[in-house]
Amino acid sequence: MNAEKKSGRYQRMKRQLDGLLQTTDDPIARMATIASLLFHKMDGFFWVGFYRCVGGELIVGPYQGPLACQTLKEDTGVCWAVVNGSKAIIVEDVRKFKGHIACDSRTKSEVVVPCFDSEGNIFAVLDIDSTELNNFDETDAEGLGQIIKLI
Ligand code: SME
Repeated sequence: MNAEKKSGRYQRMKRQLDGLLQTTDDPIARMATIASLLFHKMDGFFWVGFYRCVGGELIVGPYQGPLACQTLKEDTGVCWAVVNGSKAIIVEDVRKFKGHIACDSRTKSEVVVPCFDSEGNIFAVLDIDSTELNNFDETDAEGLGQIIKLI
């Protein structure tokens, strides 16, 4: 899918979520709704979910897809790298990311985006996996970054 088409798709999903998320401001409900919409609307999203920052740990939140690790070993893997660096990471080939945590061996590429609260602290990350190599680019990171502001 070209960048323009993909960007348009993210914008339409954001408008749809704007309406859907009016029901409650509960962050878990919002994460669950976002994960479901992304998983079912985007082609090639094999796993879509959140890891929440709780008491210094990263603990799995709402997700769609195969079973995932419940907690992620501190300062290891892509999600922790995003928390520690405070910016999105696109992994073209997970085998080349040192310390990558493989919850499912079918995952080949990945994008992880930080979720910031109103004070600029990270409270969660959105993690999306694909079974295709190089499935994510800046358009995904940007579109997803806009969507998770709705939490
Ligand atoms: N690959 C992630 C772990 C989470 S799973 O992809 C669902 C990481 O390296 O942090």
